[in-house]
Formats: sequence, structure tokens, C-alpha cells
Amino acid sequence: MRPKQKKNAKQRLELCADIIINDFNALKSGFFPIFNNDNPVHLEIGCGKGGFICDMAALYPDINFIAVERVETILISAAENVKNSGLSNIKVCPFNANELYDIIPENSIERIYLNFSDPWHKAAHQKRRLTHKNFLEIYKKLLTIDGSIFMKTDNDALFDFSIEQFLNNGFRLENVSYDLYEGDLLNNIATEYEKRFASLGVKIKRLEAYKK
Ligand SMILES: C[S@@+](CC[C@H](N)C(=O)[O-])C[C@H]1O[C@@H](n2cnc3c(N)ncnc32)[C@H](O)[C@@H]1O
Repeated sequence: MRPKQKKNAKQRLELCADIIINDFNALKSGFFPIFNNDNPVHLEIGCGKGGFICDMAALYPDINFIAVERVETILISAAENVKNSGLSNIKVCPFNANELYDIIPENSIERIYLNFSDPWHKAAHQKRRLTHKNFLEIYKKLLTIDGSIFMKTDNDALFDFSIEQFLNNGFRLENVSYDLYEGDLLNNIATEYEKRFASLGVKIKRLEAYKK
């Protein structure tokens, strides 16, 4: 569904200017100038309204979080939520996942979160799936040597596709669950989409993929 146009988008973006990184070159020299520390950096791609990243950043103050979202109207909501949280360990970027290699230094990201990524049902669109091998090649370069990708989805076909892509492209899988809510939910932070799907009884799938 097309997001509704936010009123005063420019003004709202300006009010969150300290939260948003929109300069393609800002991250090239690393994260110290952005966060003023050398803490590990976790990246969420397709953060939606930013609920997950705010909860994670509050829970893990010694980790820096970068939330990437390509739709401006949605990004504004995420930036406002981050601003309202008062947390200093989150930045929001209006980028597309396919641009990340040009923006983020190699071997600099400890973990990537892919939460409820768009499934792109048609086979003809599978290159757009954020777990397609072309994206995995980008992520591999961005991740540290022991870096990982944590994925959650409601979609069976995307989950099966992703497992195949991870295994065929040099990742090791751990903690693969076809029904996250059947087990121990300790430490699980639910995203906005996750809350919606879980309340409808849809099984939430989750995996951890590690660079070998
Ligand atoms: C289905 S929503 C899930 C939002 C959130 N992660 C959640 O779980 O509630 C997927 C989000 O990913 C964003 N997205 C999709 N493809 C993207 C890409 N290539 N780069 C950046 N963001 C993307 C969409 O704009 C959308 O906000």
C-alpha cells in the first residue's frame, strides 16, 4: 500500500536533522565521528517506523544502531520516534539497501537485522528480495569477520528462499525457527509488523546467519 503523504515533510525532516544521516559520504570514514565512540554497530535494513530499533537501542546502550529506510514518509516517522526516545545511539538513513556498499565501510557492521522484509512474491522480482544473493554479497562485505544477519518474517516462501540463499552463499545458519512464538521469547523485541502478524496467529519465522 502506498504510504500517505506526510504533511510538512521538509519541515519535519529538518526538525530531526540531528538524527538523520543523508550525506552519502558521512559514514565513509567510519562511525566515530557520528557516535563519538567505538562501540559495535548494528544495522537494520527496512526499519519501518523504527519501533524495533528504538527498543533495541534502549536495551543495548553500548551498541550503536543505524536504521535504513528507503521510503521518505516512513523514514520521517522513524526519525521522529528516535528523536522522541531521546536515545543517542541511533541514526536513521534514507538509503536503499542496494546503495549500502558505496556508503558504509567494509568490515564495519557487527550485525544486520532484516525484519519482515517485503516478500516480492513473483519469481520475476526475486532480485528485489533483501536476501537475494546479490544483497548477501553486499552484506558480506559490510559485516565484520564474525558478523551476522538476524532475519524475521511472516512469509514462508521468503523464509525458504532466504535459507537457500544463505546456505548457497557461504553463511552458516543457527537457531532457525518456523514458529518463534512456540518457544522461549526471552530477549525477543517484536517489530511493528511482527506484533500485527503474531496477533493474527501467523507463525513468525526467524533465523540467524553467520559469516563462516
Ligand atoms: C514490510 S515493512 C517492515 C517494517 C519493519 N521492519 C517491521 O518489521 O515492522 C518493510 C520495510 O522495508 C522498507 N524497504 C523495502 N525495501 C527496501 C530497500 N531496498 N532498502 C531500504 N528499505 C527497504 C520498506 O519501505 C518498508 O518500510
